Amino acid sequence: PGVLCIRGTFAHTPHLGDLKILQDYLLVTDMSGVIIHFQPAQNPESQTVLQKSPPCVILPSGTLILPNFVDLHLHAAQFLYQGNGLDLPLMEWLNEYAFKAEERLDGDPRLARTVYTRLARRLIENGTGTVLLFGTIMEETNLILAEVMQAAGLRAFVGKLSMDISSRPSYKESSMETSYQAAQSFVEKCRALTANLPSHERLVEPVLTPRFVPTCSDSLLSALGKLSTTENLKIQSHLAEALDQVEYVRNERGADDMEVFDRSGLLTPRTIQAHCTFLDVPSLEHIHFCGTAIAHCPLSNSYFSAEPFRLREALDEGVKVGLGTDVAGGYSLDLMNSMRHAVSVSRMRQGSKQLRAGSDGKSLAIDWKESLYLATKGGATALGLATGVFGVGLPFDAQEVRLFDLSARMGVGALDFFDLEAGGSENAKTLTIDMIEKWWCLGDARNRVSMWVQGAKLDIFPL
Ligand code: GUN
Ligand code: FE
Repeated sequence: PGVLCIRGTFAHTPHLGDLKILQDYLLVTDMSGVIIHFQPAQNPESQTVLQKSPPCVILPSGTLILPNFVDLHLHAAQFLYQGNGLDLPLMEWLNEYAFKAEERLDGDPRLARTVYTRLARRLIENGTGTVLLFGTIMEETNLILAEVMQAAGLRAFVGKLSMDISSRPSYKESSMETSYQAAQSFVEKCRALTANLPSHERLVEPVLTPRFVPTCSDSLLSALGKLSTTENLKIQSHLAEALDQVEYVRNERGADDMEVFDRSGLLTPRTIQAHCTFLDVPSLEHIHFCGTAIAHCPLSNSYFSAEPFRLREALDEGVKVGLGTDVAGGYSLDLMNSMRHAVSVSRMRQGSKQLRAGSDGKSLAIDWKESLYLATKGGATALGLATGVFGVGLPFDAQEVRLFDLSARMGVGALDFFDLEAGGSENAKTLTIDMIEKWWCLGDARNRVSMWVQGAKLDIFPL
């Protein structure tokens, strides 16, 4: 990446619920994609920069720069089977669809490359710049995934699945030892992919991925817990997701998911657990105590979980929370949909609480600005990243969205009435919170003009 200089309107959520709209700011990055200047364009320092810098891009009215999205939970191989069979309970769906999709890619590296390349394109198109991925069992397939993400310029955390138990005899590792060695080997090879690059260009990182308790023996889980500590590796898994899954673990293992993970040393500040819908408040308190983060996947939960995630309670406890699409347990790859579903589900929770118990002044509902925090800074924080927000010293990971076109006097994409409401008048030069809310509700890929990760511009190539 070269040096970027952009003048225009920026918006971000430095804290939960706090949306800052920064009109007419100047942002400059250095050669490594790190922000070195971020101030109102009228400031004297900005004026000096404007004189010295390479030509600055001035964004047209109606255009906004936001942090790009962080998808905290996505099954890359299941992208192939996106949108099928969601009427089944989780454990049956896994057996009928998920395991088959993954096994198919593990047997066909060319297909894997095709699926992963299309996935990368769709992620970019939908504004996702950072993604925490579940892969498949086979090393080669996961290395293809890591290579494709690195080549696409996406910040990707790649998990080779560890599973020494399976409901599908052809789709598992042959023993605990085999599984453990394969996890170690993938970590080494994935790190080697980027070892020769300067550190700011290293975009992919391996993550230990015991699939979930039902597919991992206690000895495998404990071994991975130790490996995470010695190798300083992130961990991802599924925790307390669905009724049939929770009951299965209780019957087979005589304990709850959380207990099993905890005694294996897998609840760490480097851990991201998906779902956690069946965790009560004391359990969320424990998750916070462990420093573990949660990937909230509201669309997938609506199909599989029976219980909604206690999102407000988790946030009140101080748990790190981000949003995940859970493709293909969730059928949409667009994190804007995850934000909308997170708000809808939380509003239904609040409504039913109020019907049952009346109002106690504290709402379980989150609003759109809080969901935007979860989709950006929340997810980045869960991954230990400094992105998701704009500031000097931080990598420039961003998306440019166009809400309306002032010269054509029309809204872009589904934002039909921006010309009447705003785009037609001179005061449209100021982007208001109402306009951004409208984009949050109705915007889509048509509004997205550019994407950057670590200051490098990504190609948005529609399929
Ligand atoms: N639990 C274990 N594996 C999976 C998976 O692939 N998808 C979902 N939603 N839950 C899981
Ligand atoms: Fe999942």
